[in-house]
Amino acid sequence: MNITQLETKRLILRPITEADAQDFFELDSNPEVHKFLGNNPVKTLKESENAIQHILGQYKTNGIGRLAIIDKVTHEFIGWSGLKFEQNLRKEFDYYDIGYRLKEQFWGKGYATEAALASLDYGFKDLQLKEICGAADINHIASNTILKKIGMQHSGTFEYDSLPHNWYTIQNPYL
Ligand SMILES: CC(C)(COP(=O)(O)OP(=O)(O)OC[C@H]1O[C@@H](n2cnc3c(N)ncnc32)[C@H](O)[C@@H]1OP(=O)(O)O)[C@@H](O)C(=O)NCCC(=O)NCCS
Repeated sequence: MNITQLETKRLILRPITEADAQDFFELDSNPEVHKFLGNNPVKTLKESENAIQHILGQYKTNGIGRLAIIDKVTHEFIGWSGLKFEQNLRKEFDYYDIGYRLKEQFWGKGYATEAALASLDYGFKDLQLKEICGAADINHIASNTILKKIGMQHSGTFEYDSLPHNWYTIQNPYL
């Protein structure tokens, strides 16, 4: 199945490829980026190559997965965002997750919010998903702010990696 490319005012969201490995390594080797992601940044390029293979596998199996965020003007790799069929985070059920991870130099410019809104729109209008969910460590102010700002409802808390996380959901308004 082909993975669809999305576009926003400032960004292109395109399928991730093996050629993104160095950018993934720059993203995921930064301890600041992993502060609310288990504090386990990658140490080798090989780990980033493996992460990309995992995403390519999801494209094939699920027809959906995270997308690379590219600056429309400079063509820089900003990070990734998008939807993922999540089968591991909640033990009790599978769901469509919305997520984002940006290189630190691109934080604070509204890029994650812009990318997330495009992904919600795609998930609801094109894929006709019934519901999209998101999760964030309760202390992760930026991520909790984004999830609320894009219209998701806080729907409880749960433990992940022994840490409390907020759980957010949004229903498809077009169905
Ligand atoms: C989380 C992350 C994607 C945010 O990216 P970003 O592009 O800076 O986010 P945005 O600019 O779209 O929005 C962030 C919002 O949080 C707010 N915010 C961020 N830190 C804040 C703080 N300490 N206190 C109050 N508000 C804060 C910003 O003001 C902004 O809200 P606003 O647009 O209403 O002003 C980025 O920090 C990142 O990649 N972190 C590492 C990976 C990660 O943690 N991913 C999420 C896992 S749940």
